Amino acid sequence: MKKSKVVAAVMVALVGLALVLTGVGCQKEKKQITLGFSQIGAESEWRTANTKSIEETAKAEGIDLKLSDAQQKQENQIKAIRSFIAQKVDVIAFSPVVETGWEPVLREAKEAKIPVILTDRAVDTKDDSLWVTFIGSDFVEEGRRAAKWLVEKTKDRTDPVNIVELQGTVGSAPAIDRKKGFEEIIKDKPQLKILRSQTGDFTRAKGKEVMEAFLKAEGKNIHVLYAHNDDMAIGAIQAIEEAGLRPGQDILIISIDAVKGAFEAMMAGKLNVTVECSPLLGPQLMSAVKDLMAGKTLPKRIVTEEGVFPMETAAQEFPKRKY
Ligand code: AHR
Repeated sequence: MKKSKVVAAVMVALVGLALVLTGVGCQKEKKQITLGFSQIGAESEWRTANTKSIEETAKAEGIDLKLSDAQQKQENQIKAIRSFIAQKVDVIAFSPVVETGWEPVLREAKEAKIPVILTDRAVDTKDDSLWVTFIGSDFVEEGRRAAKWLVEKTKDRTDPVNIVELQGTVGSAPAIDRKKGFEEIIKDKPQLKILRSQTGDFTRAKGKEVMEAFLKAEGKNIHVLYAHNDDMAIGAIQAIEEAGLRPGQDILIISIDAVKGAFEAMMAGKLNVTVECSPLLGPQLMSAVKDLMAGKTLPKRIVTEEGVFPMETAAQEFPKRKY
């Protein structure tokens, strides 16, 4: 072989080696992450915004999202999780409709080595190794914030302040915790008294129906409505107006979520305060999924930052609201 040919062959070999060492030319396509997400349903304005945030962020982050709507049923969520396990998704996330009854299916996910992330609502399990992290609001604190607003608002009153409470879905974390936080603050305020408390299942229709029943039973004896979400408060506002009373004046209304509908009601003078519970969990969820797949350890609890919006701030805040 001529010397020039030898030099050329050595050069080709060296370039080839360099390409191999730098990874160029043999770079494998990065595997797309598949996330199975079981959503509760579409019971409220909040839930719709939550689903949208998850869908939009998954798309933006290039994550293959398999979304399943459980239509408020735990059995549907369990079926969806089993189907995600069968499909061998990379990560499972879900917003549990109720707190209890998840151990068996979560154990199946663990045995299949598929990590589970809880979003929005927590589960009540003895073994907390069944899920990796819980991303969402502090519902007890939301209940406390609602009650603190009321304590401040009624601080000069010595007469009884009668409250009716519209609870969220029976057995759900937000219903349990928002009640707990509220009661914790009012317990040593003897003039603040919960007259009636019933579930309105987080929906407008149920909120209206139950408020009608409260009004029928108590009439003008009701001074305050504490609703565990804005949708129930908005339904109740209709019932109060139909009963010839002025929501926001004859009956003070406190609710939770801070959706646009609540701001509209506040600007119309019909709702007094809403405690924020952000549904925009998509970015935190997708970043947790990516961190997990990159082998990072996640904190067990990722809490969402939130505020309180009294009606006086509504007009100023409304244009900034994203949900
Ligand atoms: O879990 C969050 C709660 O569920 C929201 O407050 C409510 O509106 C929703 O349906």
